[in-house]
Amino acid sequence: MIEITWLGHGTFQLKLESGEIVLIDPWINGNPKSPQGFKIGHIDTMLITHGHFDHVADAVQLAKKFKPKVIANFEICAWLETKGVQNTGGMNKGGSQTAGSLKVTMTHALHSSGIQDGNALLYGGEAVGFILHFADGRKAYFAGDTSVFSDMALYRELYAPQLAFLPIGDYYTMDPKQAALAARLIGARQVIPMHFGTFPILTGTPAELAALVQADGVEVWELQPGTPVRW
Ligand code: NI
Ligand code: MN
Repeated sequence: MIEITWLGHGTFQLKLESGEIVLIDPWINGNPKSPQGFKIGHIDTMLITHGHFDHVADAVQLAKKFKPKVIANFEICAWLETKGVQNTGGMNKGGSQTAGSLKVTMTHALHSSGIQDGNALLYGGEAVGFILHFADGRKAYFAGDTSVFSDMALYRELYAPQLAFLPIGDYYTMDPKQAALAARLIGARQVIPMHFGTFPILTGTPAELAALVQADGVEVWELQPGTPVRW
């Protein structure tokens, strides 16, 4: 059983069967949807999908504090190292690596990845997603920020993830219509929508997605920030 806690926007905490804590795309401070009073006790593994501030804002501070294994693309890991973060595992699309009981495979994403560093915008490699392989054999797809793309069907063929974390907000990522197609391409039975409602421009809603995937028998789980769900 995995405990999934949405920390608002694209940030999630997963508590694995083993008790390990995985933090994905850490943006806590300044995140308008960050749950009040939520405290991170420790982090074993940190995953980062791309370099935008709403996905890395707290990465350096949290990585220095809790010293997790940090998994991201090569360029983001190189940047984190310049900030004093240790124990990074910079990788690239198609590759897999293991951190504790979790195996991750880095996937494609259709998005950008520039890193805002002071007044400079640094090259952050390409945006990615992850297939999460859990110890019990189940798999989830964490899309990160992306448009829909047809190669999601390849990830279905390769990994058949039951659960997908998909952005639905529109403007910076896909909208509910594209997310419904993404759910079909990836073959997920459950979808956790993310990256919506944080700012007024992120207009997509879980209800729109739910209406579109109902005919496929796909469940949409609308999480409340700070309230864990078990999977
Ligand atoms: Ni982004
Ligand atoms: Mn984003």
